[in-house]
Amino acid sequence: MRNLMEVSSLDKDLLQEKDRQLKLEELLTKYQNTPGALIPVLQQAQEIYGYLSPELIRTISSRLRIPASRTYGVATFYSQFHLQPRGRHIIKVCQGTACHVRGGSKVMEALKSYLGVGAGETTADLKFTLETVACLGACGLAPVMMINDQTEGQLTPAKALQKIKSCD
Ligand code: FES
Repeated sequence: MRNLMEVSSLDKDLLQEKDRQLKLEELLTKYQNTPGALIPVLQQAQEIYGYLSPELIRTISSRLRIPASRTYGVATFYSQFHLQPRGRHIIKVCQGTACHVRGGSKVMEALKSYLGVGAGETTADLKFTLETVACLGACGLAPVMMINDQTEGQLTPAKALQKIKSCD
């Protein structure tokens, strides 16, 4: 009999998927008869799956008895919802004025070319999502980017790439 250390990555994926399905079921059972539950359900479903796939939107709509077109409408209206898979690491590169004049666009170009994606896109291996923001509120450290919750300032293109390469 195999012990837990020997669980293959395929088994881990299946376990993770099973765990997600259980959490979703719990969520839908909790809210299925609650009026006005759409936004909290979308938020929590996104937390479970990382994004709102068409299948997930259909499941939520049918369980809450809401037309899928309305669920799509809400999911596309609010920027907090993501309809595409997101990377494990979210990179936000500041393109505000202070960062722009100190080379923020060069940092962005270097990241785009290294990762092979544009702003708002995710790498094929789902490791990184690259985004731009107008100001991260750390103008004194310009040019600035954030990797997940970590602020990185006084960047050069080389320094930005080094930070990205150290992400696991
Ligand atoms: S303009 Fe980049 S942090 Fe403010």
